[in-house]
Amino acid sequence: MTPTIIDTDPGIDDALALLFAWGSPELEVEALTTVAGNVPLALATVNAWRVRELCRPAPAPVIAEGAAAPLRRPLRTAADYHGQDGLGDIGGWPETPERVASGQAVDVMIDAARRHRRRLVLIAIGPLTNVALALERDAEALRAIGRLVIMGGAVDVPGNVTPDAEFNIHVDPDAARRVFEAGLPIDLVPLDATRQAILRREELSEALARTPGPVAERIAAFTAFGFRERGADGTTGLTLHDPLAVGVAADPTLATWDRVRLIIGADGETRRRAGAPNCRVAVGLDRARFVQRFLERLCPRSA
Ligand code: BDR
Ligand code: CA
Repeated sequence: MTPTIIDTDPGIDDALALLFAWGSPELEVEALTTVAGNVPLALATVNAWRVRELCRPAPAPVIAEGAAAPLRRPLRTAADYHGQDGLGDIGGWPETPERVASGQAVDVMIDAARRHRRRLVLIAIGPLTNVALALERDAEALRAIGRLVIMGGAVDVPGNVTPDAEFNIHVDPDAARRVFEAGLPIDLVPLDATRQAILRREELSEALARTPGPVAERIAAFTAFGFRERGADGTTGLTLHDPLAVGVAADPTLATWDRVRLIIGADGETRRRAGAPNCRVAVGLDRARFVQRFLERLCPRSA
């Protein structure tokens, strides 16, 4: 099993990514580190706890809190896509304990990087603020990890928050620039690939109907808000942005890859440049294999 840390700003698709990771035997999720993005930091941390409480993975990953704001910009959130509370505003979650997080995101990342080195996979599915701060603390330790899988960017396709920029990179382009210039082993999962990963409502309903119960009901409820995006093939559904990052972290053969030199523009644009590649970009996807695997593994333990 691959020791794994997930840096996240839950978020409907983040929540699905966490459930998918816990159902993936290739990944041993040691910690969730939270970052401000889809929702303010305190809510991101509460949502990470809520999703962990829903699935109750064993062993339970540590939840460690990270950056409350991007490096240099005010925070832009995504309530219009995820709901005011980040999880579709369905209510009815268990009462949150007083202390949800136990540790600081940067400490947890650096500690795992030093312990596991090449074995560690860091999956970043929110703005890259925590990763940039960890780099500032110990760049050598981060350069020694096996893979940094990032959901973000729009390389050869339009953005989703500006004509050219994708949300995670747009929220903290300064952090993204530092991360892409640091010589890290980056696998980027941009909109180019995730727009091929649209989940249709009936696909999820059918899968959840195979494992009825309170967990399935909650998954159906918090995802309902997200089924309104249009994918590359014209279908409408929920885009599995963050679950795809988890999918390729566990099995890179789900995607086809292009080695690219990318630079980060002032507003979070991800542009190709000539020169030595600084990342591998997912450009194609075996959609059928990915979606089938995702639905099979969606938190099966507690369903
Ligand atoms: C990314 O932005 C967020 O809203 C999603 O959780 C995902 O990480 C997609 O652009
Ligand atoms: Ca996210």
